[in-house]
Amino acid sequence: MSQKNKKFKFFNYSTFKTRVSNLPLMSYIVSHLIYYPVPANLTYGWGIGSMLGFLLIIQIITGLFLSIHYVPDIMQAFYSVEFIMRDVNNGWLFRYLHSTGASCLFIALYVHMLRGLYYRSFKNLIVWITGVILFVRHLIKLIILKAEFLQNCKNLKFMVRC
Ligand code: HEM
Repeated sequence: MSQKNKKFKFFNYSTFKTRVSNLPLMSYIVSHLIYYPVPANLTYGWGIGSMLGFLLIIQIITGLFLSIHYVPDIMQAFYSVEFIMRDVNNGWLFRYLHSTGASCLFIALYVHMLRGLYYRSFKNLIVWITGVILFVRHLIKLIILKAEFLQNCKNLKFMVRC
């Protein structure tokens, strides 16, 4: 193509991409978060472990903030949750993040375990046993929460009847 026929482009995406990826901080992000050279068999399935870690941190932080305002008492538990939802700044957000995060954590856990079973990651026995310990810990927490919830329902019914 002759120089004469070359059209002027106001925005050239590939030039933009090259320039941005050469900036000091961006080059770090691009070479670690976007293009990260790993073996071809390391697929997105191996990203779920990090996602689990991220979800766990979210659960711990939001749980900590909720426990500041929650009152584990038969007479006050309900009203403390109402207080969190209505009066605490962004309390509703923390509560919903915590409850939705719990479901996401369990879904991610099952997918993570299925990945491990499908690709025979369980051959790495020490890592697998550590995972089983974490899973049992989550199950115990779930059972305790369920028992607490049922107990609260019973108490509430008792209080309403009174
Ligand atoms: C909160 C719970 C858990 C967290 C935060 C977690 C975190 C991680 C992370 C970050 C990795 C490396 C990246 C990856 O392969 O995805 C990993 C790998 C692994 N996890 Fe988990 N995990 C959890 C639960 C479990 C459970 C319940 C099991 C199985 C019972 C398990 C078994 C494994 C195995 C076998 C690997 C090695 C995979 C491989 O390299 O092929 N993990 N985990």
